[in-house]
Amino acid sequence: MNKRVYVAMSADIIHPGHLNIIKEASKLGDVTVGVLTDAAIASYKRLPYMDYEQRAAVVRAIKGVTEVIPQEQLDYIPNLLKLKPDYVVHGTDWREGVQAKTRQRVIDTLATWGGKLVEPEYTEGISSTQLNKAIREVGTTPDIRRRRLRRLLNAKPIVRVMEAHSGLSGLIVENTSVMVPKDPADPNGAKVKHEFDAMWLSSLTDSTLKGKPDNESVDITSRLRTVNDILEVTTKPIIYDGDSGGLSEHFVFLVRSLERLGVSAVIIEDKVGLKQNSLFETGNVQKQALIEDQCHKIKVGKQAQITDDFMIIARCESLITGAGEDDAINRCRAYIEAGADGIMIHSKAKTPDEIISFVKRFRAEVSADKPIVVVPSTYAQVTESELAAIGVNIVIYANQLLRAAYPEMKRCAERILACERAQEASAEFCMPIKDIISLI
Ligand code: SPV
Ligand code: MG
Repeated sequence: MNKRVYVAMSADIIHPGHLNIIKEASKLGDVTVGVLTDAAIASYKRLPYMDYEQRAAVVRAIKGVTEVIPQEQLDYIPNLLKLKPDYVVHGTDWREGVQAKTRQRVIDTLATWGGKLVEPEYTEGISSTQLNKAIREVGTTPDIRRRRLRRLLNAKPIVRVMEAHSGLSGLIVENTSVMVPKDPADPNGAKVKHEFDAMWLSSLTDSTLKGKPDNESVDITSRLRTVNDILEVTTKPIIYDGDSGGLSEHFVFLVRSLERLGVSAVIIEDKVGLKQNSLFETGNVQKQALIEDQCHKIKVGKQAQITDDFMIIARCESLITGAGEDDAINRCRAYIEAGADGIMIHSKAKTPDEIISFVKRFRAEVSADKPIVVVPSTYAQVTESELAAIGVNIVIYANQLLRAAYPEMKRCAERILACERAQEASAEFCMPIKDIISLI
């Protein structure tokens, strides 16, 4: 019997380095390639461009590959225990850095049945990281971008979304990342990359940026110009805050426009009359739409969309208006039955208690798997893992970037007025001119 050889790879952008590894592996025996699933990749970095099936199909066609299997985790061990290969083949590049520990575990596991790690010299001059950067510079297409939200929902315990209100803030959401310990209890252990998965086109921050109230004063044409500014410089998926969605007769055009642009989802809220922001402490209580009217809007919206990828998410305001949890459950059930692809439950409470209670009931009584979106602005103490644990699928940080920018700009303006010159403000609040010139 031929020797068994195992190679693991993401195989998103195949380059000569991969081919070399497979060639070297095939000299040793029959090669099984463990292609990392979307979930395995999303556990430590950005979702790959191609989904698992597409990547597996490419690898299957490479000369020297006998079999392709999914590797469901970053960790090799479960597949190694299943296959008990004679060899694992990997380039030398993992000897140092974040993967060094994984490598040692592979060596130790193989040793238990006499298997060996073989490490061909790393192919210099080309890497997936380099190619990924080049692809990002080229951009994306509406179809690829639109589909990414559903892929993220399948691949991640919780999808992390940050508001963007301009091209510049879109770039922050696109490019900001930090390395954090994989296990918070082990701060010196392996690190994973945290970044935002998608962008929220908030009506609040888009209106505020334009100096207008969040009451649908900013018309859709203007909102879509902001979307376009962001689309031009980013690749991550977009969830659009559709406010009430307007009249059903108009909503169908909004759905088509967003879908055509490559937006992944629209969220519409069950409000009627002049809309006010949900987080207002005072003022008139916002009226909620009749359930049947909202369901009608959802239905015609779903009928209007062309692709299977676009999502219409129904936002329920019952906890905001004081109608309560029973009303929220009834409404969300009706919205799902009308065809909504998910629900957003909003709250302006100071603690997450009412959200937690609702989410548990929704999961038990309405749907075990329809996506649930939350926006923890007033109950910001809640963590992503707490939300994921109760069954929330999408967390939206709805306004923080603009809330951070405005006070700094105002303080800077005040300092210039007070000093009658720019020197102090420049030193205290401003990035160097040479940095802003080269920022983009
Ligand atoms: C927005 O960001 O515009 C929202 C969320 O709709 S909230 O402001 O909390 O209503
Ligand atoms: Mg809004």
